[in-house]
Amino acid sequence: MKTIFITGASTGLGKASAKLFQSRGWNVIATMRNPESDTELNALDNVTILPLDVTNPEQIKSTVKKALEISNIDLVFNNAGYGLIGPLEALTDDQIVKQLNTNLLGVIRVTQAFIPYFREKRSGMFITTTSIGGLIAFPLGSTYHATKWALEGWSESLAFELNTFGVDVKTVSPGGIKTDFISRSLDMGTQPEYETMINTMFSNTESMMEGASEPELIAEVVYEAATDEKKQLRYVAGADANALYTQRLELGAEAFREQFGKQFI
Ligand SMILES: NC(=O)c1ccc[n+]([C@@H]2O[C@H](COP(=O)([O-])OP(=O)(O)OC[C@H]3O[C@@H](n4cnc5c(N)ncnc54)[C@H](OP(=O)(O)O)[C@@H]3O)[C@@H](O)[C@H]2O)c1
Repeated sequence: MKTIFITGASTGLGKASAKLFQSRGWNVIATMRNPESDTELNALDNVTILPLDVTNPEQIKSTVKKALEISNIDLVFNNAGYGLIGPLEALTDDQIVKQLNTNLLGVIRVTQAFIPYFREKRSGMFITTTSIGGLIAFPLGSTYHATKWALEGWSESLAFELNTFGVDVKTVSPGGIKTDFISRSLDMGTQPEYETMINTMFSNTESMMEGASEPELIAEVVYEAATDEKKQLRYVAGADANALYTQRLELGAEAFREQFGKQFI
């Protein structure tokens, strides 16, 4: 039986993935900041819940150690993350540091903790949830994009480094997902001079989210990446994300950027 280790499994895509892999016969180690709040995953067979706040380096070490004592691990799914939206000058240093610590350093540290184990057994896989926002950019999301673009480049580099040891590195880059991300996982900053841009951005986001995918559909892409045995790095997930990414590739980065930006500014 194969085992997946998931971060941010309390809700949304992480939870949908935990349920999907469990239903397909996998053993699941579902990690979350507040295991006591789980009412669903702990009732499933072959699911173990462990505490993990990805901004806590000590807890990363102890939880990874515990997970490896419980079971062999085949796949690490770096999924925990949240959004930070607003004009850069309106964000506090704490907001910026927390975003980088969670979305970027959290992934880097969790991955680093598992590498020696995978390298020694000469197998294993890392899949990281990035975003279509790791391949294109929206206004007012500079710090969020900094983390998601960073994860795309980081994964591309790391794949070269680890493939030679039989370890795979992949990204899943979703478009909108119909989770509670916007209501529960968005930190914001605002400033009067940017009000018009912020309002346009939010009304556009609302209509763009109409094309968003159910988390179960994105979880299927994670499952495909985990099991298709391809050496592919990048899995753009959801019809909206695929349409945007295709447009970017077809038009080229500069022409796409110019056209895409017009709808917001
Ligand atoms: N929703 C979208 O439209 C969308 C689009 C593209 C990419 N994504 C990406 O998809 C991933 C999952 O998001 P989602 O849509 O499923 O949103 P979600 O339902 O809000 O889930 C976010 C998850 O991340 C966890 N998390 C946040 N900070 C954490 C920390 N410090 N340590 C551990 N876990 C932490 C949350 O845990 P708590 O329950 O403890 O808060 C929650 O489990 C994120 O990486 C996000 O950037 C989302």
